[in-house]
Amino acid sequence: MALLAADRERAKADRDPLANLCVLATVDGEGAPALRTLVVRGVDARAVQVFINRNSPKWAELRASGRFELLCYYPGLGLQYRLRGRVADHDLDAVRASWVRKPYRTKLVDWYYEHERPQSAPLESREALVAGHRRMQERYPDPESVPVPDGVRGLDLVVERVERLDLNALPVHERRAFSRVDGAWEEVALVP
Ligand SMILES: Cc1cc2nc3c(=O)[nH]c(=O)nc-3n(C[C@H](O)[C@H](O)[C@H](O)COP(=O)(O)O)c2cc1C
Repeated sequence: MALLAADRERAKADRDPLANLCVLATVDGEGAPALRTLVVRGVDARAVQVFINRNSPKWAELRASGRFELLCYYPGLGLQYRLRGRVADHDLDAVRASWVRKPYRTKLVDWYYEHERPQSAPLESREALVAGHRRMQERYPDPESVPVPDGVRGLDLVVERVERLDLNALPVHERRAFSRVDGAWEEVALVP
């Protein structure tokens, strides 16, 4: 995880547009794979932190299986990470701290999920969404004092397996897998 955190910092320093992003895989209620892009809010020795809405399909999918796979790709560094593990709740203080920095328009979308329709629900039209967003603006007219909706949640994606593929390694690509066993990381090299 220290390696991932360090590589992510290098990607940020290189202004890699993917440095703050990941792709989260879950399994839906019918057993089909489901992928989506998320912002990575933090990486520590134990977990990757993400914020997702409690009313979204992915929340239900993560709760049902407790499992995930996460992909981080830093094209400037030629590095791919695949992470697997289990989901845990994240402390609410981090969510509140980040809410302050969230743009007003996006805060209103979070309230739309609460009062109007959950994230990913079908809409009768784009106009219906715009009208609903305007209703949220009328309900919370002051950008500085929009409260945090209960549905905005932080999750710790607790990592148990890390796979790192380095496309820039010479004379041949390097692929290493790390598994957490009894609190310590065990490493094995893989055919890239
Ligand atoms: C660059 C980018 C960043 C995103 N970041 C987030 C995020 O941090 N949290 C989130 O819930 N959705 C985020 N989304 C939207 C998700 O990809 C997805 O469309 C949405 O959460 C609905 O997913 P679901 O139907 O699987 O629940 C982001 C999308 C993009 C393109």
